[in-house]
Amino acid sequence: YSIGLTDLDVATTGYVLSLDDLADYQGTDPAKYHLGLGQDCFSVPGADEDIVTLAATAASRLVARHPEHKITQLYFATETGVDQSKSAGVFVHQLLGLAPNVRTVELKQACYSATAALQLAVGHITRFPQEQVLVIASDIARYALDTPGEPTQGAGAVAMLVSAEPHLVALEPVTGFYTADVNDFWRPTDSSTPYVNGHLSLDAYLDATAGAYDDAMRRAPGLDLEDIDRFLHHQPFTKMARKAHRHLGQHLGVELDDALIEESMSVNRQLGNSYTASLYFALAAQLTNNAELARKRLGFFSYGSGSVAEFFTGVVQPGYTVHLDYLEHLQADLNARKTLSVEQYRQLHHSYRLDSDNYTTPTDTATSFRFAGVTDHVRQYETGL
Ligand code: CAA
Repeated sequence: YSIGLTDLDVATTGYVLSLDDLADYQGTDPAKYHLGLGQDCFSVPGADEDIVTLAATAASRLVARHPEHKITQLYFATETGVDQSKSAGVFVHQLLGLAPNVRTVELKQACYSATAALQLAVGHITRFPQEQVLVIASDIARYALDTPGEPTQGAGAVAMLVSAEPHLVALEPVTGFYTADVNDFWRPTDSSTPYVNGHLSLDAYLDATAGAYDDAMRRAPGLDLEDIDRFLHHQPFTKMARKAHRHLGQHLGVELDDALIEESMSVNRQLGNSYTASLYFALAAQLTNNAELARKRLGFFSYGSGSVAEFFTGVVQPGYTVHLDYLEHLQADLNARKTLSVEQYRQLHHSYRLDSDNYTTPTDTATSFRFAGVTDHVRQYETGL
């Protein structure tokens, strides 16, 4: 039997900041953002949104379609952890009303960890093919104000249901790994924003892309570049996918057509960086933007600063479009975000809290799940709409 993604759903925040407005405020040419970074705007969380509320929104939409689900594992991938001990997945487990006999765990390795979660899920289903695994990637990219990383912020969650005989994408055993200790991007436990060596991070990303691809080809000698019909890249900003695509071509001494990545960037261009969810928003975009992908092979490049990368492949399943109608809400959600002024956005950015003193959050956004604040150091979540 094949194993892979049988369903997928997404969520993003209630607010958005236009990069035209940010450029205007900074006195920067907006073309730097639209052309130089390939970004138009980015999602901004309200005070009552966090990785848990985003994850619960995406996952509840997915689980509602599967009343008879067989979920026994909940793997929560993030680099925006809300607690240094408890898994954010446990909050989601409660908000979704899942049964107690579920294994719940959080995984971290920058933007890479959702891929590790997915591969762990495949391993579990190999042993227990009657069961299902809920993998959730949820992140908020939040850089310090007035830094080069600021225009590459964003937020979102992707929930994926992994099972045998999947309806969307069957993951293949083709996979290649890469790890190198690089200080390109990291967030110490006392900091709410990352430290970034931006230009080093670009080089580290490109090295890792080539390294993971080479390892995959060593492990799967029968596979050729021509066997891959579309490439999906981690997209901290969509121009990065173009850089990676070009770099892969140069590395292999071939010219790679831009059409192989074009359809995967429409969502992230409007969403911004969603760290470990970003590659899977690229997948959501790829599947919704092209109805002719049945039996086509996707090549996934997953990268997480620090740095770890993996290249793996999956085959789109016949009939997949039937299972994607619900993703229509994706564009509707993006359009429904309320536009912040730069002043409102900066105020929201300043009001973010890392501490766990008592506080309550204003009801900011029309969300399905709310982060209500902290009582006695315990984070409080509510079901909203
Ligand atoms: N018109 C058109 N293009 C313009 C322009 C203009 N007026 N002005 C500048 N540009 C272009 C530049 O030529 C450049 O394009 P190329 O790289 O193709 O030459 C692009 O706009 C960006 O310009 P700069 O390099 O000068 O931009 P910067 O130094 O201000 O910052 C950045 C860019 C380093 C990516 C910064 O946004 C950053 O640090 N971001 C966070 C880190 C990041 O996203 N790294 C990505 C790899 S790591 C990763 O993927 C993990 C992760 O998620 C964080």
